[in-house]
Amino acid sequence: MQPIEYVFIPFSFLWYLFLILWHALIGLIFAFIPYALLPKKDVSKDIVLVTGGGSGFGRLFALEFTKLGSTVVIWDINLTGAENVVKECQELGGKAFAYKVDVSNSENVYKTADDVRKDVGDVTILINNAGVVAGRYLLDAPDHLIHKTLDINIKSHFWTVKAFARSILDNNHGHFVTIASMAVTMEAHK
Ligand SMILES: *[C@@H]1O[C@H](CO)[C@@H](O)[C@H](O)[C@H]1NC(C)=O
Repeated sequence: MQPIEYVFIPFSFLWYLFLILWHALIGLIFAFIPYALLPKKDVSKDIVLVTGGGSGFGRLFALEFTKLGSTVVIWDINLTGAENVVKECQELGGKAFAYKVDVSNSENVYKTADDVRKDVGDVTILINNAGVVAGRYLLDAPDHLIHKTLDINIKSHFWTVKAFARSILDNNHGHFVTIASMAVTMEAHK
């Protein structure tokens, strides 16, 4: 007689399989519902941190989240820009805070993240928006600009996510948002 073979399937595997199928099913159903009819997420109790929030897209994110009732934390290398946006958020009746940060400096990121935790609370939505554009052809770009571009546009994401992931994971509540540019789809000319 053949011995019975037991196949050990860890419960966690089945649970993740179920979750994948469940979310795929929900996604499939939602794909057929017009966007305007979808339920909107309530972010009025969230603390939203926007890097590079002192100008451009970052400023617009700060203003939109203010309108949705979120508390907004603006990080920028340019404190004047960040403070101006804080004023704009306050004029809309929101709560906003400005910090001068160099996101390419990991120690500076961790230190300022601690300040935010003490002054404002646990950040629940992190919008990695800060970025620089060298705007030069490779052969015309000095090495220091290439280092700076990678430090700010790429490496900073690791520092900011590390700085805020602990509380987001512990509370099982929050989002990381990464802003990229359609410019990456363009070919390099030289
Ligand atoms: C800082 O931001 C202010 C206000 O947006 C702007 O007028 C100033 O030119 C900026 N400074 C630098 C160095 O970019």
